[in-house]
Amino acid sequence: MRKPKVLFAASEVYPFAKTGGLADVGYSLPKALSDDFDVTVVMPLYLTVDRRKFAIEGPTDYFDVMLGSERRTVSVYESRYEGRHYLFVYEPQLCDRDYLYGAPGEGYDDNAQRFGLFSYAVTELARRMQSDIVHLNDWQTALAALIIAEDETIRARTVYTIHNLAYQGDFPKGALTELGIDKRHFTLEGVEFYDRVNLMKAGIGFADAVTTVSPTYAEEILTHRFGCGLEGYLEKHRTRLSGIANGIDTEHFSPQTDESLLRPYKTPRGKLSNKKRYLAEAGLEDAGLPLFIFIGRFTWQKGIDILLEALPQMALMPCNIAILGEGEPQYHPRFEAVAAAHPNVHLFFGYDEGVAHRMYAAADFLLMPSLFEPCGLNQMIAAHYGAVPIVHAVGGLADTVAPIARLQESPAPCGIPFDDATPEALMAAVETALELHHDTKAWSRAATHNMNADVSWGQSAAAYAALYRKISGGAVK
Ligand code: GLC
Repeated sequence: MRKPKVLFAASEVYPFAKTGGLADVGYSLPKALSDDFDVTVVMPLYLTVDRRKFAIEGPTDYFDVMLGSERRTVSVYESRYEGRHYLFVYEPQLCDRDYLYGAPGEGYDDNAQRFGLFSYAVTELARRMQSDIVHLNDWQTALAALIIAEDETIRARTVYTIHNLAYQGDFPKGALTELGIDKRHFTLEGVEFYDRVNLMKAGIGFADAVTTVSPTYAEEILTHRFGCGLEGYLEKHRTRLSGIANGIDTEHFSPQTDESLLRPYKTPRGKLSNKKRYLAEAGLEDAGLPLFIFIGRFTWQKGIDILLEALPQMALMPCNIAILGEGEPQYHPRFEAVAAAHPNVHLFFGYDEGVAHRMYAAADFLLMPSLFEPCGLNQMIAAHYGAVPIVHAVGGLADTVAPIARLQESPAPCGIPFDDATPEALMAAVETALELHHDTKAWSRAATHNMNADVSWGQSAAAYAALYRKISGGAVK
């Protein structure tokens, strides 16, 4: 029997282009679905994508799309990276840029046009390929849900996944004409938002199913605190909304086979030699002390302000702290000041996959004080590498990290969740962590539980498969 055809569209996909967790999901979810579905992944062919390294060929196809009153020619490139089918859309305005969306903390002025164009290209591909399901992600592809809903010649059903409600694709109302969106959609029910055009609303309002990346975040976004102004609109569409937690690719993130590690390992005991080696690499001392790590973008969402406030006090405790990340420039000097005053704090500005993997392998604890977190992937990676996550209990962090006291009944990793987004609550959790680390048996029980906990895509991919079947009314078997 023919496998149903899924077109998975995202503005970034690992390893071709990545700024955040969306790219990881763009790699690992299609991979997890590929036994049951004929999945094609489509993304823009940015200037920064390495065509040679990933054997990207083409153009293999051309077509025109209308962007408002302008005709644009799009060329299509292809790759069979790791045996899966990838399509890349090329058009100069969309692709020929230094950054994907703009310099850190900024967005290009013409992003509505750029990603509107990408959405039209995705729609055209869905028509040509006769896709059964088009899976759209975040605001950059949201417009495709509206276009497909309006176009009777395209039979595909659509799933729209919100990875982060804080980025909505909100533009001046001129975007309506620029993108050729019919004026009758410029209403509260449509894409209008405070007299501007909100592309996220096209995804929420017009897709056959709307998902977000954890069950708790699906509830949270219906509230004023987490809804980013869209809580009312989401409430109206709540019967089509559900939460499916992300997993991680346990082949790529496996302490047993990880090539970045000095010694791959199967049990928490194997962490020690990796810890020693990492401490030496980072210029830190004493493998007997617990090692706390933070890995992530330096943005407001990730709770960087809370972390920065707690750090000087944490650094006075018997521990080592290693931080890897980059992001909004105002944070860098503040991190540097802490590191300059405390020799047990190590900083790595930038992103290096190998260093990150060695940090997970070395770490006893991962710090994740995010103010909100749709899912979060690092807590699952850290747990899989035998570390204990310390997390602000929101969104996906609440769903994927159980308190250590519930270790026995929880299939999820365990850790130290805290309720208030304050430096005091984080410090209290760090103190609990120090006590836990002191109790060698309890620490190793927690670390062993985490290494064995299921953080793979298994269950979640099955949930997406069930959703695909549901919205296609049996057409997708
Ligand atoms: C976004 C969210 C993060 C989520 C990721 C993948 O980056 O902020 O919580 O894990 O998307 O869905």
